Amino acid sequence: MENTLAQDTKGKYFIKTFGCQMNMHDTDRMASLLVTEGYNPAEQIEDADLVIFNSCSIRDKSEQKAYSSMGLLKKDGKKKNPNLKIGFAGCVAQQDKKEVFQGAPHLDFVMGTDSIDQLPEILYRLNHGEEKIMQVGFDPSNDYSIETKVLPGKSTAFVNIMKGCDNFCTYCIVPFTRGREKSRRLEEIVQDVKRLALLGIVEITLLGQNVNSYGKSLGGKKVGQTFPALLIALQKMADEMEANGTTHPRGEGGRPKGIQRIRYTTSHPKDFDEEMIDCHANLNRLVPHLHLPVQSGSPTVLKKMKRYVPIELYKARLAELRRRVPGIAITTDLIVGFPTETEEDFEQTLDLVKQVEFDSLYAYMYSARPGTAALSLGDPILDQEKKRRHAILSEVQAEIQARKNTEQVGKVEEVLCEGESKTNANLATGRTAGWRIVNFSLEGSDLKPSQLEGRILPVKITDANTYALKGELSLL
Ligand code: SAH
Ligand code: SF4
Ligand code: F3S
Repeated sequence: MENTLAQDTKGKYFIKTFGCQMNMHDTDRMASLLVTEGYNPAEQIEDADLVIFNSCSIRDKSEQKAYSSMGLLKKDGKKKNPNLKIGFAGCVAQQDKKEVFQGAPHLDFVMGTDSIDQLPEILYRLNHGEEKIMQVGFDPSNDYSIETKVLPGKSTAFVNIMKGCDNFCTYCIVPFTRGREKSRRLEEIVQDVKRLALLGIVEITLLGQNVNSYGKSLGGKKVGQTFPALLIALQKMADEMEANGTTHPRGEGGRPKGIQRIRYTTSHPKDFDEEMIDCHANLNRLVPHLHLPVQSGSPTVLKKMKRYVPIELYKARLAELRRRVPGIAITTDLIVGFPTETEEDFEQTLDLVKQVEFDSLYAYMYSARPGTAALSLGDPILDQEKKRRHAILSEVQAEIQARKNTEQVGKVEEVLCEGESKTNANLATGRTAGWRIVNFSLEGSDLKPSQLEGRILPVKITDANTYALKGELSLL
């Protein structure tokens, strides 16, 4: 059997992924298509016959990283392996199109964000003599219908519920690289997730640039296609599967059966309303974590970003959420150095961070992006000043975060294990439902960290720092 597989193989692939979960999801999708086509994964880039760079364009640095990484294969990649094919995919590919080929004679194809499913066709064409293929069109249909691809043995999955973005926040490239917003039908997603549960998936992350807009392209509220309706339907489906015992019988090594955790990202402050708070309060499979990027604490900057919500309303909603779901983790994204950001604006961001006490946050230095509305404002804040603001913000947050993490010490948390810790093979690592990283020891058990991937385990938290918690398996 193994021999047949080896004979059928078309070679090995390696995909280098940059950027967000959308790109990771696209990588999963490419990998799964490649495996179906007869490719095997390569351990390292040097061993591959097909290398794809899945690029991100969110900031200039991300773009440069993808380009320079691809450039590394220019010198002798094809000398070492004459069969090597190289592709450039993702948001930079979508943005730069044929320009990607300039200065990259070693590149065989450029593939945009809406062309993932055409990968087998592209490879077929390359293997039949075509050169320098470019596939960067957006699918013109209103439909968005897919089946989530996962590799065997996985316990978590990203589930795209929509694609594109229509918000056009003035700093952001995503509406240009991902096209117009389109949603998958609710019924299709529920069936898809049911299938994932049967494959042994225990945690799903629903993906969309603004999940609160989910369903709008399908008719929205009038036809019952809304994000809260989707969350309720998924919870119901998982409850029924568990009650009927129809989930994956594997449960091997104690892996739980069926969808235990539902995550989503990203929600938009303008749309995070009472109905969403109700979902968090009522649906026990929805994790106690909300990522709600606010970007700035200054109303003037928010207006210039085309992302205005009254700060008082933002804070009130979060306070209400914390009241209804005690202990819920709240995280955010912030940008420092937006072109019009004054020292006072920045102070307002600091105030917001101090008042809300986020459980964690991502702070970014503003980067001007091609084609965006904010480009006309220039980029007057010097790098040095952006760095200064970033450092102050990070310092303020680090203190809050360390304190909040320390409050977890003594608790027993359910941790979804991801296997061995990267820095210490004796420790297992995983995440709490609230998205905190926990590295934990397995004393008193004969299990190895690598055997625990996909299991949800009780872990007693014994120590904490700014970025992670430490613990020990709690044998009841
Ligand atoms: N759709 C999500 C965010 C996607 S991009 C949302 O609206 O929340 C992820 C984060 O990158 C953003 O939240 C923002 O903080 C940051 N970002 C986007 N464009 C940027 C730019 N031009 N410069 C710096 N940071 C940026
Ligand atoms: Fe970008 Fe705004 Fe869309 Fe998020 S909501 S992807 S920040 S345009
Ligand atoms: Fe994601 Fe980067 Fe594209 S953040 S949507 S991969 S620009």
